[in-house]
Amino acid sequence: MSMPRVLFVCLGNICRSPTAHGVFRAVAARANVAVTVDSAGTGGWHVGNAPYGPAITAAAARGYDLSDLRARQFTAADFDKFDLIFAMDAQNLNDINALRPIGNVTPVARFLDLLPTPGDVPDPYYSGDFETPLNLIESASQALLDQLAQNASAVDPNSL
Ligand code: 4NP
Repeated sequence: MSMPRVLFVCLGNICRSPTAHGVFRAVAARANVAVTVDSAGTGGWHVGNAPYGPAITAAAARGYDLSDLRARQFTAADFDKFDLIFAMDAQNLNDINALRPIGNVTPVARFLDLLPTPGDVPDPYYSGDFETPLNLIESASQALLDQLAQNASAVDPNSL
């Protein structure tokens, strides 16, 4: 897959998926790996808004700028616009797949399924803990980058 298009999806698109968006675009840029990155929420409450302030602050402390990002809602059209779709948790995964057009085979997986310890990215909007999600998202971003750099065709979240 040359220049893969990667979409990160959470519930509100103001905490976890914009963090994944900002972290992954930064690690890819640092490694000179060309990717298209976007993020979206399964819910529409925050459409048009910047990421949650504490998420911007926590990411900025690690050198990631999220301030240009604006929330949008995931739509069925995203299945045709992206090569890989990563959900932040199992509920997001179900909500995404519920919108899958008939016949579409775009891989969708939880982002942390790329790690040896798969799981959900905990939602900092409710917990107030932004460091744990950042640690997990940094690890998964590095794992995704490694796979893309090694062999793009090997990144098939459906096979996880
Ligand atoms: P996120 O966190 O899915 O990581 O962006 C949330 C932010 C806002 C809401 C839910 C989750 N909300 O219901 O407003």
